[in-house]
Amino acid sequence: MSEIPSTQKAWIEERRGSPAESLRLRTDWPVPTTLKPGEVLIKVQACGLNPAGYKIMGLFPNFLRGRPLPSGMDFSGVVVDANGTEYSNRLCKSTKQGTLSEYVRLPTSHIVPRPSTITPLAAAGLATVYLTAYTALVELAQVEAGQTVFVYGGSSGVGLAAIQTAKARGARVISSASGKNEAFVRGIGADEFIDYTKEPIHKHLLAHPPSPKFNVIFDAIGISDPSLYTSSSAYLAPNGVFVSSGPFPKDASAPELWNLAKTVAAISTPRWLGGTPRRWTVVTDLYSREKLEAVHALVAQGLLNPPIDSVFEFKDVVPGYERQMTKRATGKIIVKIDPSVD
Ligand SMILES: NC(=O)c1ccc[n+]([C@@H]2O[C@H](COP(=O)([O-])OP(=O)(O)OC[C@H]3O[C@@H](n4cnc5c(N)ncnc54)[C@H](OP(=O)(O)O)[C@@H]3O)[C@@H](O)[C@H]2O)c1
Repeated sequence: MSEIPSTQKAWIEERRGSPAESLRLRTDWPVPTTLKPGEVLIKVQACGLNPAGYKIMGLFPNFLRGRPLPSGMDFSGVVVDANGTEYSNRLCKSTKQGTLSEYVRLPTSHIVPRPSTITPLAAAGLATVYLTAYTALVELAQVEAGQTVFVYGGSSGVGLAAIQTAKARGARVISSASGKNEAFVRGIGADEFIDYTKEPIHKHLLAHPPSPKFNVIFDAIGISDPSLYTSSSAYLAPNGVFVSSGPFPKDASAPELWNLAKTVAAISTPRWLGGTPRRWTVVTDLYSREKLEAVHALVAQGLLNPPIDSVFEFKDVVPGYERQMTKRATGKIIVKIDPSVD
């Protein structure tokens, strides 16, 4: 193991704005030297990008975000200072802000050993999307073998994780995406495919209701339009559940804010006042060591394996985020921090 330097390269979030406005690559950022009990120092191999990264940059002012601070959440890496913990030069991955840096300091509650079944590049994109899918389908919806799950947005990072997680539970999966992504979505494991660009999904499902009805609908995109939910009694079983990844507006335009207001009204109107007679819930509280271990057990069995959309060099974090912001990625966008990893 080479000597640990005192300074490092790190992408620092300096101000509110787009990634191009907010981020600066610093070469003089200190490598953490003082570790608290239970913390380790990790040499980062790769970092997986998420929409949350650019959304947080664009949303929060400096005083709420505590900038300047290193950016990035998901990663794979190698423990270089185990600090007396159980980790000794073991490969890890986890999820925590600050991983678009060469070194990161983390408590061991945030890391688990990387299964040998996936590469450091694939592992770097795993945590957030698979923890979202696991929380939605296993914790909230409690998907069981033989049930039918509809995944809205199966080509997204969260959607592909949801398809693989539902299949690992023994469910039948129907998923939507744009027609060009049909082979990709079926290749991940979807049993049936619907092209949402031909007609709105709720209209398609009203015209062609599934039999039996879905047990679970998971909106992996976070659509602000509530129509898929408000029409769901036609295609979601009475004891079924609609899980959203978060119905956040795309922007602050009037149609998006109006959709959000309609969603809030739809989910808060009680059934006796004409509300939708189906349960609606949203994914929160992603992170726990137990869930990370459960996800990794499925990875180790070869049941989960995140496809990679693209890999960017460390200097190209801004183009990486620009790819994410197109909302057209199929799979994870990875930033390679250690140039020697695959
Ligand atoms: N609640 C949480 O804790 C949590 C955690 C993680 C993520 N999220 C949220 O989940 C959402 C998805 O994240 P992600 O990382 O999976 O995103 P992503 O990988 O960037 O999503 C890209 C995909 O979205 C699809 N898409 C874009 N616009 C669409 C639309 N209007 N309708 C249907 N599909 C559309 C595209 O498929 P096509 O090209 O086929 O249209 C593309 O494959 C984000 O809003 C994110 O903030 C929430």
